Amino acid sequence: MTTRAIPDIYMKEFYYARKSLVEKMLTRTENIEELFRFAGPLLAPMVATHGPAGINVAPFMLTFTVKNEYLDQAIEHLKKINNELWGKGHIVYATAAEFLLEWIYNIERSDPLTLSTHLMTKGHTYTNIKATKEAAIGILIPPDRGALELRAIAEIHEEGPYYEFVNLLHDLMHAVPHGRRSHPWYPALVLRVKEIYDNSYQSLGERIYP
Ligand SMILES: Cc1cc2nc3c(=O)[nH]c(=O)nc-3n(C[C@H](O)[C@H](O)[C@H](O)COP(=O)(O)O)c2cc1C
Repeated sequence: MTTRAIPDIYMKEFYYARKSLVEKMLTRTENIEELFRFAGPLLAPMVATHGPAGINVAPFMLTFTVKNEYLDQAIEHLKKINNELWGKGHIVYATAAEFLLEWIYNIERSDPLTLSTHLMTKGHTYTNIKATKEAAIGILIPPDRGALELRAIAEIHEEGPYYEFVNLLHDLMHAVPHGRRSHPWYPALVLRVKEIYDNSYQSLGERIYP
């Protein structure tokens, strides 16, 4: 298998398309609610698994993840801003957007091929990944311009840096502005993309990575 660079379509239509949403969130130059609605499939891709719970698919709000070597620094930074901004209301969102641009959408620090989220329930996805450590991720490029299929090694972290990173980032968005959290921290799901297929009408399933 020859190694190739991360395909342009993945970076442009997924990584940079999401980065541009965060930039617009900061500058508020466009109708941000409408943009986020349109970008739903990019923000919450479908994650398919197989295993003891059967074949399964469910959407997950995935984030790109900082490179391993930056994880500890990102965690310290998140702890600091979460403490400083706890309960400060909507002004938190500007700092959250800045964090995303400095760490998640900064190609120096970010790993576009590592996606993560937290698993709020030990349902089909959790059961299958525990057993098989495999997942496929389906991303529709909205509205219907194309689709990417990612095949990934899937890990569940119930402690350690990925567990902290994912839950601190979730807190920044969902608990810090309100000064209260509605649920405890959950296991982190880390998806390491190993293969990418272009499922557009033009390419019809061609493998484009690696
Ligand atoms: C748009 C959207 C985003 C979601 N994001 C998450 C998420 O980030 N984490 C999570 O645990 N569940 C999330 N869910 C719920 C899961 O899709 C799913 O309901 C849950 O994992 C149970 O399904 P399972 O038993 O097939 O895993 C989301 C649901 C929707 C509709």
